[in-house]
Amino acid sequence: MTSSSRQVKLKPGDTIGILGGGQLGRMLALAAARLGLRAQVFSPDPDSPAFDVVQSATCAEYADVEALELFATDVDVITYEFENVPAATAMILAARRPVLPDTKVLETTQDRLAEKNFVTRLGIATARYADVASVQDLKAALAEIGTPAVLKTRRFGYDGKGQAIIREGDDLEAAWADLGTKSAILEAFVPFEKEISVIAARSADGHVVCFDVTENEHSDHILKYSHAPARIPEALAAEARGIATRIAEALDYVGVLAVEMFALPGTGAALLVNEIAPRVHNSGHWTLDGASVSQFEQHIRAIAGWPLANPVRHGDVTMTNLIGDEIASYEQWLTVPGATVHLYGKGAARPGRKMGHVTEVKPTTPGPSGD
Ligand SMILES: Nc1ncnc2c1ncn2[C@@H]1O[C@H](COP(=O)(O)OP(=O)(O)O)[C@@H](O)[C@H]1O
Ligand SMILES: [Mg+2]
Repeated sequence: MTSSSRQVKLKPGDTIGILGGGQLGRMLALAAARLGLRAQVFSPDPDSPAFDVVQSATCAEYADVEALELFATDVDVITYEFENVPAATAMILAARRPVLPDTKVLETTQDRLAEKNFVTRLGIATARYADVASVQDLKAALAEIGTPAVLKTRRFGYDGKGQAIIREGDDLEAAWADLGTKSAILEAFVPFEKEISVIAARSADGHVVCFDVTENEHSDHILKYSHAPARIPEALAAEARGIATRIAEALDYVGVLAVEMFALPGTGAALLVNEIAPRVHNSGHWTLDGASVSQFEQHIRAIAGWPLANPVRHGDVTMTNLIGDEIASYEQWLTVPGATVHLYGKGAARPGRKMGHVTEVKPTTPGPSGD
């Protein structure tokens, strides 16, 4: 990290540049506004949901050097809402303004193989995995790892895209051809008991704060529900927070990151790291209504050089994603007592598209008093 990034200290009225115009960028911009900060969103898509909530927007391609240069001069610090920021874009911006989290983080988190190697080097467990660059590699990896296994593209996968489960007897030539890349990994299929995630924030001075561990339920590989706190033993939750903290420290991270993990069945359950997201994350949306400070504000605080919050959770929280045409249920949700509805302002409700979410907070009933 450059010394200039270390020295970022925004004041109210300063401007945060946000790369990416989806719902995460939109919610980051709203959090910035509440703290008296401005946001300028850069996105190639004229229909970006984040454009609706900011006064200044740059609608240009990520390869448009002139637009990037102008954007950089307009803002005081730059952050991103997605991990696939092209390396050249990141370089152009970082030469002009502090970019947080540091763009080095992208090299590790854009590539599933680099990410798993990084986690393994820290002595943290993952599913068994192998680098696969050909159908011969795939056969060798399957002999090692066994079935079922999950074949994943190294780059650009999200919401289960770029993944295929390989079962005993499957046609490997076809599976490899369907993946459509020469750059993949094979992972052992994990018979997990639960999926959990930790949303952690790290400030430039190295302070780390984790939100309560979240339990996640996916449907068709897309996050459907998050529950906070995760219904796991406290010792396991502490271990999960410890893993996220070590990852944030090893990346010299500034901002909010999410670490997705599998909890294996059994008492003394072990944790395997699945993915690192160098950004705010869908499994942290519950913090908007379920905690005193949200993941979005925590990220803004971290990159602004402001003190991190120690967020207090308001109760037992469930977040429900509204995916595709589920968005049509928003009017019903508006009448559910205790529910808070968030709509992202997206146009077409395509299948699998995240259109909004709902948070429900149930105040925790106090336990029996000790006396
Ligand atoms: N090795 C695995 N074993 C079992 N389930 C998996 C495995 N890898 C992925 N999954 C399932 O697919 C979901 C999406 O995979 P993930 O690797 O997180 O990619 P992405 O979120 O980028 O699409 C996971 O949350 C999990 O439910
Ligand atoms: Mg994932």
